[in-house]
Amino acid sequence: MVTDAIHGVIGNSPRMRELKHQISQVAGAEFPVLILGESGSGKEVVARAIHQLSPRKQAPFVGQSCLAIPETLIESELFGFEAGAFTDARERRIGLFEQAEGGSIFLDEIGDIPLSFQKRLLRVLQEREVRRLGSTEAVAINVRVMAATNAPMEQLVADGRFRLDLLHRLNTFEITVPPLRQRQEDIPALVEHFIAKHAARYGISSPMPGTAILERLKAFSWPGNVRELENFVVRWISLGEEALEILDKRVSLSFESQDISRRWLSMTMDEIEAEVIKLVLADCGNNKSVCAKRLGLARKSLYNKMERYGIPGVEPRKG
Ligand SMILES: Nc1ncnc2c1ncn2[C@@H]1O[C@H](COP(=O)(O)OP(=O)(O)OP(=O)(O)O)[C@@H](O)[C@H]1O
Ligand SMILES: [Mg+2]
Repeated sequence: MVTDAIHGVIGNSPRMRELKHQISQVAGAEFPVLILGESGSGKEVVARAIHQLSPRKQAPFVGQSCLAIPETLIESELFGFEAGAFTDARERRIGLFEQAEGGSIFLDEIGDIPLSFQKRLLRVLQEREVRRLGSTEAVAINVRVMAATNAPMEQLVADGRFRLDLLHRLNTFEITVPPLRQRQEDIPALVEHFIAKHAARYGISSPMPGTAILERLKAFSWPGNVRELENFVVRWISLGEEALEILDKRVSLSFESQDISRRWLSMTMDEIEAEVIKLVLADCGNNKSVCAKRLGLARKSLYNKMERYGIPGVEPRKG
């Protein structure tokens, strides 16, 4: 079996070969797949690869982050609505499940869907039909469901925040994407891939980093995983070796701390909180999941705080 070349999935380390093997195993099947892994590790890349290798590849792949939809809109976003279903519903809108007809739907951050909505989602998955908001009629759907999360699902179930029956419905097959620090051998190939990708996009070429730099990159922990490495490569393309400073910066943050604490004496708690959030965000390449984890916050609370303090980087709410 060819496991070297799977659409868009770079890396040939033992962990990645195993992952590609799993991708090709599940692609032909119809059952749901739950993709687990740290933020930025490539969960969506895996979902797209499964879709591309499946008999559904000609039909749409519809991806949506459940965290990005406000609780009140999740049902209409996924299932659609009829004209007049609510005040702003001027005309009928097809939901994401119907948009994915014949193909696959990818529900990212599934751990964040509101408890109040989980039962309705479960019913849709069981009965394979959706009911648009404001409609009494059910529409049959033929959609393969994939979901992803970096949340500890068992813990969410234990805390009563996620339904066990829904989890069982979603995790017929579980795939775990290993964090980048556990497959450092893949870093040169990923760097090469990202240089080519962004060189094509921006119309500039850039040399591969030399061996010594690649060794430094391999030794780095990459808390933001492949996404963080990609950000690094973008900087490398435009800045060259100066890009490496970002790796040093994490270390030097602690040296600035004396200055920071003196300034903090004249600040309110809110100002300090905002400053800490900005610092940690900058330190993890603007990766909100990693930032939330480091601050011991749920991602939602981080988003709320960012919104409250006017820190840019929160997607505007729809509707
Ligand atoms: N194995 C890989 N090969 C090529 N590109 C990759 C790979 N893994 C990740 N990437 C790239 O890294 C970035 C992040 O990947 P992706 O969005 O799939 O991560 P994720 O796990 O879904 O992150 P999040 O938890 O934040 O949703 C994307 O730009 C993606 O193209
Ligand atoms: Mg994702």
